[in-house]
Amino acid sequence: MPSELARHFLLDPAFSFLNHGSYGACPGPVMEDYRRWQERLERQPVAFLEPAHLAERFAEVCRVLGAELGADADDLVWITNATAGLNVVARSLALKPGDEVLTTDHEYAALAKTWAFVAARTGAVIRTVDVPMPLAAASFADALRTAMTERTRVIFLSHITSPTALVFPIAPVIAEARSRGIVTVIDGAHAPGQIPLDLTSLAADYYVGNCHKWLFAPKGTAFLHARRDRQSVLMPAVISHGWSEDRDAPGPFGGTAFQNAFRFQGTRDPAAWLAVPAALGFRAEHDWSTVAAACHRLAWEIAGEVAGVTGLAPVATPETSAPQMIALPLPMCDTGALHRELRAAGVEIPCYLWQGRPFTRLSVQGYNGPDDGARLVAELARLLR
Ligand SMILES: Cc1ncc(COP(=O)(O)O)c(C=O)c1O
Repeated sequence: MPSELARHFLLDPAFSFLNHGSYGACPGPVMEDYRRWQERLERQPVAFLEPAHLAERFAEVCRVLGAELGADADDLVWITNATAGLNVVARSLALKPGDEVLTTDHEYAALAKTWAFVAARTGAVIRTVDVPMPLAAASFADALRTAMTERTRVIFLSHITSPTALVFPIAPVIAEARSRGIVTVIDGAHAPGQIPLDLTSLAADYYVGNCHKWLFAPKGTAFLHARRDRQSVLMPAVISHGWSEDRDAPGPFGGTAFQNAFRFQGTRDPAAWLAVPAALGFRAEHDWSTVAAACHRLAWEIAGEVAGVTGLAPVATPETSAPQMIALPLPMCDTGALHRELRAAGVEIPCYLWQGRPFTRLSVQGYNGPDDGARLVAELARLLR
């Protein structure tokens, strides 16, 4: 990890860490802010967890995060991870037998399970649209438009896909769905901090994103954004002091019923969420858009070198791939063994099968430098011989 910025991270310097995508990596100054919040809580637990105090703190996080996401602060609530937020949405929708949920073959496996669970209990049907690669914006929208029927109730799409690291051009699909009264649920786990967002104009019914991946917040920070007219539908998994049956009246502790229902769910440690502004501050202080542009260039240099070893081109182009994450096909191999051997050689990068084909997924973040790429390329050349 030779980049000058590596000193801000707690990552083991002995490793070439090329897997920011899985769980992110939290910079030291953000971890310090996180711990400071925990200490404040422990000094005055009762005063700190008082609803009026928490509401004020949460509102401030939503204000700062909303500015980053192009979202109204009142439309955002804290959830601990993208999976939790998408579970709330999937399990709140009143699906009936025969209703269709349209999705793609590039979705994150855990969320495919969530939708299968919901379908098994409601009688809804999951219809999966195959999205061929290379991705083309027009054919993506056409494929989804053609698949929509009068029974389609929900469209569930990743904004950035996990196995293929593609940026799905979701805006026209959301607009089309809305004109047909179909609910759109977007899995934006990888989007915040990687691509610019304007959630208000995107106007998906529900958009869930992680702050702990590309925004640099501590683990356990994600948001659920719900369009104003769709908030009353949502049922948190935990019903507690914040809940009120009248979903359209203000909540018991000020703010909306939506905010109250998600803010007050029993005793929890909100410190990670309260450190989100520090994560955004870290990015601003280090001019992260410039750093990210350099990461993007480095990622494609490394991708080219990996392709030289494997003889297989990336599945995407710089225009269709996530800016700092690229899926790279591998020759047929035991991906589990390859992953273990790369780790043993000091390279952390995921290796997996997607649709029966082996891939690795390269993430490049500001702590990486060309040496990390060189190590990956050398180890792949050795291990794939
Ligand atoms: C597309 C996508 N959705 C959801 C998730 C789950 O995120 P979390 O573990 O924060 O819930 C991931 C995790 O990598 C992902 O890639």
